Amino acid sequence: MRKLVAGNWKMNGTLASLAELDAIGAAITGAGGGSAVDVAVAVPATLIAPAAARASFGIGAEDVHSADSGAHTGCISAPMAKEAGAVFSIVGHSERRAGQGETDAEVKAKAEALLRHRMDAILCVGETLDQREAGDAEAVVTAQVRASLPDGAGGDWLAIAYEPIWAIGTGRTATVDDVAAMHAAIRRTLVELLGEEGEGVRILYGGSVTADNAAALLHAPNVDGALVGGASLTAAKFVPIIEAALPQTRAAV
Ligand code: PGA
Repeated sequence: MRKLVAGNWKMNGTLASLAELDAIGAAITGAGGGSAVDVAVAVPATLIAPAAARASFGIGAEDVHSADSGAHTGCISAPMAKEAGAVFSIVGHSERRAGQGETDAEVKAKAEALLRHRMDAILCVGETLDQREAGDAEAVVTAQVRASLPDGAGGDWLAIAYEPIWAIGTGRTATVDDVAAMHAAIRRTLVELLGEEGEGVRILYGGSVTADNAAALLHAPNVDGALVGGASLTAAKFVPIIEAALPQTRAAV
């Protein structure tokens, strides 16, 4: 399966930051065009249109509302993000589940909105440190997958991002063995829910991915890419992660 390396800028970036997208694009095309890795970056809503106008890879939203329009001050909908140029959105990021109290049902409705508008979804799941230490990580994460996946979902519109909450922005990463075990559990759940289509859903790892740990994580079994926060903000940090995702015989993007 082609790997996907997706950035998540969170609440970072202004127009001046778009030069980083140019540098990322140049690194991809500099190696002869068709990279063997899919690259995407989710940016703040204010940057979707200008980023999409100049990026040579997929630009996405960091969140969308489940409704297409209405009295939801401060939110943007899937069709709005799409009109601005977004081809995908992250949904269910743990910072929104925690900060905005988003439930699995809401995350599912957001994923359904993306499906309805033919946009790709990166659906995030992940356990807290307490849940991991209690031995509940797998049960928590597979329950999130079950509860947030739209009915009848399938195909390559969807990626699941496994992001252990305690690894996000902390410099701590899960061990490669723990990541492989969790991704295997997510894969089993996807196949159970979606049948053969579940084999084709990419499962990304996220949480303090850097140039130093990317190669080991990205080539672990059932790891089909990465969702990268802090290290996606500059081309200097992000491009080496894209390179690390290449089939291991290839040396450059
Ligand atoms: P991080 O964020 O790479 O800065 O840990 C990952 C994420 O929240 O998607």
